[in-house]
Amino acid sequence: QKQMFHCFGCGAGGNALKFYMEIERKSFPESIKELAEKSGVIIEEYELSPEEQKKKKLYERYIAINKVTAEFFEHNLWNSIEGKKAIDYLYQRQLTDETIKKFGLGYALDDWQTLKEFLKGKKVTEKEMLALGLLSQNQDGSRTFDKFRGRLIFPIYDSNSRVVAFGGRITDKGEPKYLNSPDTPVYNKGRHLYGMHLAKHEIRKKDRSILAEGYMDVLLCHQFGVTEAVASLGTAFTESQGKMLLRYSINNHIAYDGDEAGRNAAIRAMEVMRDLGIKTKAVQFPSGYDPDDFLLKEGNEKFEELLEFAQDPVIFKLEFLMNDDISDLSEKNKIIEQLAQDIFKIQSTIIRDDIIMKVSTRLGLKEDLLRSELRLLYNKKENKFKITDRKNDNQKTAQPYQINKDQAFILQQLCENPELLPDIEKRGGCQLFDKELQEIYLSVANHSNSDIIKNRSELNEKIVSCIMLQDMEFEDQDKAFEEILNKLCAKKLEKDFQEKHKQLALAEKSGDMEQMKAVLGEIEIIIKNKDRNRRGLFN
Ligand code: UTP
Ligand code: MN
Repeated sequence: QKQMFHCFGCGAGGNALKFYMEIERKSFPESIKELAEKSGVIIEEYELSPEEQKKKKLYERYIAINKVTAEFFEHNLWNSIEGKKAIDYLYQRQLTDETIKKFGLGYALDDWQTLKEFLKGKKVTEKEMLALGLLSQNQDGSRTFDKFRGRLIFPIYDSNSRVVAFGGRITDKGEPKYLNSPDTPVYNKGRHLYGMHLAKHEIRKKDRSILAEGYMDVLLCHQFGVTEAVASLGTAFTESQGKMLLRYSINNHIAYDGDEAGRNAAIRAMEVMRDLGIKTKAVQFPSGYDPDDFLLKEGNEKFEELLEFAQDPVIFKLEFLMNDDISDLSEKNKIIEQLAQDIFKIQSTIIRDDIIMKVSTRLGLKEDLLRSELRLLYNKKENKFKITDRKNDNQKTAQPYQINKDQAFILQQLCENPELLPDIEKRGGCQLFDKELQEIYLSVANHSNSDIIKNRSELNEKIVSCIMLQDMEFEDQDKAFEEILNKLCAKKLEKDFQEKHKQLALAEKSGDMEQMKAVLGEIEIIIKNKDRNRRGLFN
């Protein structure tokens, strides 16, 4: 009816088009095309502007350069003495020719100018090589040389099988173990997943993805038939990576390394997945193992078993927090506090109940006790809805945005009954609301409510859908409206009151009598209004 949707579990929300995109897991252009087709609207293809054409050309050129570079590396792997040694290393790690070729592995010769000279011969400029991170520069920029030297090369593909970057591993001891392309015009590490080009169809078919950490994990997984595996390449898992997985399946297993860093990263990744609505579980490897080691030592039947026993995110986090055996009550309390938000976010009551039971057993606490502690924490959450907003992938933690429930209620009521506007205006209108809600108030006040979700940022869309679709039934809706409006008004007046007192103090200090008189007059009005509001005389 309202052309909007909102999920109060994960905070997703927006207009009808957004709903279609999320439920069908389609991109914006795909959705528009499909909906247009369904409704018989013809979409005219528009021509690229000269600027866009230039950009597209440049992009294609970069991709072409990466492609010949990857081919050059691959050629060196199979056709040089150094490369043969690298192949021996790969054999020693149990990789087959088929896997090596499938992932297009290559070798960068241990030399300073080989790639540079090769690419120059292909009419590639140094500027382009630098932009793609294929060359490095000395400090004063006077000399350039190959970035990857004496390393095994793992080309990184985008999901359409175009080479966008490279990773290079040394084959003996040394630092760093892996060298990676920097972010370039065609590569942003938060937006790609290693192995996605091969895994995407498998993820759809098997209806689950497996997220590992490293290059070798993906190679071994695929070789052992676990073809739905991709890797985040040792960096923090991002929302856009999550969305990419979600396009192919809602189910996921996280198969990060069994060490402390790996478990920590898994917990972070699970939070990102949960907020996207991905059903995720964490595989618990024995400490010191990653998927690659485990598959080689134990084989894929044992691996499948591990996957089957993968843990619910909350339990996985609990186990992680319980690392050193805990008996101290205050320690237990701290753990409960850290788990509370995760437990609240579980949408299924059946699963939540089960998790609470397991947590109480594991902590050695009576279930009733845990439940009342959780209830306490829940009530402490305050009268606010939380909406998470990830502005970009470099921002590691979500920025929760909190909506004041009282303000949300008033906005919702106003939307449904525009005749309430004068009541709200009398008490301060816009100023009754937090900054983020003011804009929304103004558009509700000035327009019909069908307009208010258009042309909004993603966060704003979520806020609007949250407010409009929130179930806020009171026994007596009108009475509740009056009471809440009075409460907001009282808050605003109190704030004004404090503000004016500060101004008064300043005026007093500078001996500005005129100003003092003016401010005192204003304070008097506020006091009067406070009194009227208290006695409900605003109507
Ligand atoms: P790991 O150290 O777990 O490497 O780092 P790995 O993939 O298991 O490789 P092997 O088995 O030792 O050969 C996981 C990922 O972190 C990134 C790489 O993407 C790696 O695959 N990494 C690691 C780097 O980028 N640089 C490093 O120096 C180390
Ligand atoms: Mn490994």
